[in-house]
Amino acid sequence: MTPILTRLGLLCLLSMTLFSSCIQDREEITASFYTPEDYAVLERSLNLPNDRISYQAELAPHMEFNSIPIPELSDTKALLGRVLFYDTHLSRNNAVSCASCHKQELAFADDVAKSKGFDGELTKRNSLALAATVSFTSSYGTDLSGNTLANLPDNQSAFGAGFFWDERARTVADQSRLTIQDDVEMGMNLADLSRKLADVDYYQVLFRKAYGSPAVTEDRILEALQEFVNSFVSTHTKFDEGMNRHNSSGAVFSNFTEQENIGKKLFLENCSSCHGSNMTTQFERVANNGLAILDNDLGVGGVTGSILDRGKFKVPFLRNVALTAPYMHDGRFASLEEVIDHYSENIEMHNNLDFRLRDPNDTNQPMRMNFSQAEKDALLAFLYTLTDNELIYEEKFSDPFIR
Ligand code: HEC
Ligand code: HEC
Repeated sequence: MTPILTRLGLLCLLSMTLFSSCIQDREEITASFYTPEDYAVLERSLNLPNDRISYQAELAPHMEFNSIPIPELSDTKALLGRVLFYDTHLSRNNAVSCASCHKQELAFADDVAKSKGFDGELTKRNSLALAATVSFTSSYGTDLSGNTLANLPDNQSAFGAGFFWDERARTVADQSRLTIQDDVEMGMNLADLSRKLADVDYYQVLFRKAYGSPAVTEDRILEALQEFVNSFVSTHTKFDEGMNRHNSSGAVFSNFTEQENIGKKLFLENCSSCHGSNMTTQFERVANNGLAILDNDLGVGGVTGSILDRGKFKVPFLRNVALTAPYMHDGRFASLEEVIDHYSENIEMHNNLDFRLRDPNDTNQPMRMNFSQAEKDALLAFLYTLTDNELIYEEKFSDPFIR
């Protein structure tokens, strides 16, 4: 609700005027977010209410308790970003949008190992889920002190992780620049894109609303996409409910089944040293987790050129992981059962295999966690508590186009 509305509502209550006139006032005010001319333009292509939509992220109480900063987002820029995100104009031949590979019902991941780009060619890696937040504080634009990664000097590494499986982008704006111009993904030149979008009537309205002038620039496109992606907050999970109640991941959660609590314990013992224990901040940014080498993807090593980084990939956030199959940077595992089998008995030797996955009692050979079937089932049950069933239906993140 906008402040002016709140005040009006109060006035209505205080003066005890006719209830019906309050409702009328409210309708008049909310109806004026766009001018009638602007709204007529939007209405032709987009299914948007004539009202402000709030994109301000709301954190779960346990995150606030742990002083995770809330990013300041602009509602009008994020809305523009949402339209861009779903718009196939962003690809060279109008074939794909961001949402083609990042689907809301899949927590903004894709359900194939490699996604199809604008020309039908497959992407090099598996699409990443975008609603893994509160990663947004560490990896979606700001570090834990609220600095935007973009503003950090090059030599200062932020607390947060970078973007992509090899962390080659520092912000969503960087990532979007690379993705839009990628030969496989969208094949679009940013200067051409700005010109193309300037000819689209609804962007005249949306850019003016967000930036005060209708000019379509590369920076504005990238910033708006970033604001939208940064607004994805996923906190309505059974796990968050437990954290809110107990404030510590180590507690026995009263809202969990016995099996889920056993799974949580196993996760804290075997997995949280990389993936983190609160699903909000990761513990490790990149690692080699002992996958058999199937292709020659060097991962972080391909970016830094260091042999010590070869075979290391981003430690992905596990929020909504039950929705984001297939798994790993190349989508090699079709199910979470296969992932758990990997950690349990199939970790392979690699020069850069992380120490946490080596057995200190066995000359640093790959660790064998050897989970029993009951333990595997419990881990799986725990991973299912990380699913946010509201996010995937959240209207403000949905496709705004009339198709
Ligand atoms: C053709 C499919 C495709 C399209 C279109 C696409 N992406 Fe992606 N996206 C991917 C793949 C694949 C990755 C992982 C690539 C890698 O790591 O090398 C990825 C990674 C990302 C990441 C990094 C997430 C993380 O946690 O590191 C973000 C953010 C993202 N995409 C946002 C977008 C946005 C915004 C758009 C539209 C401008 C977009 N994507 C368009 C397939 C796609
Ligand atoms: C040494 C750090 C480390 C530990 C410990 C670890 N992981 Fe991972 N995990 C990773 C890395 C790195 C990846 C991505 C690897 C890749 O794709 O090349 C990953 C990927 C995953 C994925 C796939 C996510 C996706 O979106 O594709 C799941 C699920 C997962 N791990 C669960 C677990 C579980 C369960 C445990 C404990 C049994 C565990 N991890 C222990 C580092 C770790």
